[in-house]
Amino acid sequence: MKDYRVLVIGPRRGLIEELRERRIPFSVWQTRHLFNVGAGQKSVIAPFWNSAQKNREQIRKSFSGQHFTHVIAGTESSVLPAAVARRQVGARLSSTATGTRCRDKLHMKQHLAGFGIPMTRFLADSPSLDPKQVFDALGSPVVRKFRKSSGGKGLTLLEREQDYVPGDREGCILERYIDAPEASVESFIDKGAIKFTNITAYHRKGHSNFVPAVLEKALSETLLAMNERVISALGIAWGMTHLEVYLTKNGPLFGEIALRPPGGYIMNAITHAWDFNPWSAFVAMELGEEFIFPEQASQFAASEVLYPGAGIVSAVRGKSRVLDEQGVREFRLKVKVGEQLSARAGLGQDIGYVVHASASPAERLSLHELIERELVIELAALDGPG
Ligand SMILES: Nc1ncnc2c1ncn2[C@@H]1O[C@H](COP(=O)(O)OP(=O)(O)OP(=O)(O)O)[C@@H](O)[C@H]1O
Ligand SMILES: [Mg+2]
Repeated sequence: MKDYRVLVIGPRRGLIEELRERRIPFSVWQTRHLFNVGAGQKSVIAPFWNSAQKNREQIRKSFSGQHFTHVIAGTESSVLPAAVARRQVGARLSSTATGTRCRDKLHMKQHLAGFGIPMTRFLADSPSLDPKQVFDALGSPVVRKFRKSSGGKGLTLLEREQDYVPGDREGCILERYIDAPEASVESFIDKGAIKFTNITAYHRKGHSNFVPAVLEKALSETLLAMNERVISALGIAWGMTHLEVYLTKNGPLFGEIALRPPGGYIMNAITHAWDFNPWSAFVAMELGEEFIFPEQASQFAASEVLYPGAGIVSAVRGKSRVLDEQGVREFRLKVKVGEQLSARAGLGQDIGYVVHASASPAERLSLHELIERELVIELAALDGPG
């Protein structure tokens, strides 16, 4: 075995489990204490900074004189810190320009528009913009969101010109609204080549992901071709990507791409649909190792992400009914009766999930519908009657 020594920035459970399983020594930089490290390794609790300079200072402070063979980013906000850290700790190098473009929606879209990737109209938000001109250019509603974000945090729809106050928020991008279903493409990349792809359908945005999607052949091919052009235009040399796309009547529009494993328990659904461990594959790509991917999916899987909204949990019904289903592979409920829930701030927030797998798309759909019907998390209003 090679003498790997890994620095994980933004750890995820599946990644840490894989490193432990393989007995690869690793240190961690995490924003709060989630994972322990082995003897002789370091765990640093610190924020991930948005500027390269601040990340450099943090690494100098926390990991000075340390050498790592590889730096692995598990989350959106750790992609840039990882690109910076690789230079300072002597690890396998990635392009910081690629890191920035994968983190900043404006840089990403400006760069990819230059390669002819189809996308919705967008503008850099700025205090000097004129609301009327913005609405004339983008239509209503205008989507305003942070350039560096994930989980849809801070996204607002501006309906009227007077709703838009240029300069009252920093670091945003403005976009024309797209009314269309969404899908994503997950890729594993080794030495500049895409080794495996999966298409996920967002059956219900933020709640239900179907893996793999069932699409017409021509549409799948168009999506995979777009995915390949995006990855090549960004110069992504290795790792795992998660590209989001809108399926409009006039063809697919690029949404964004993330240089990290997807959320929404899509990784769990991939495991059951394709019958391999995507975290093992992710680590293999990061380490530049060979990995044997399956040619075909063996099951039609889905992840159901549970979040009922704001309120006090008054009852949970249907759990045993769901567990009785043959197709249910994973079930986790992290909430108890009496617990208070806030409004969902981002898609990363959930109270549990179900992952299931079926032999056909039709069986998957009926199992999904059964779960939606039977598994009920009842809420009492926060302020109560009167
Ligand atoms: N221009 C748009 N038109 C319509 N819907 C949009 C638009 N931009 C964003 N959305 C909706 O908001 C969601 C989150 O937007 P986006 O992916 O850009 O942000 P994010 O913070 O990276 O979120 P996530 O991590 O969930 O992907 C999209 O999946 C889509 O449902
Ligand atoms: Mg997104």
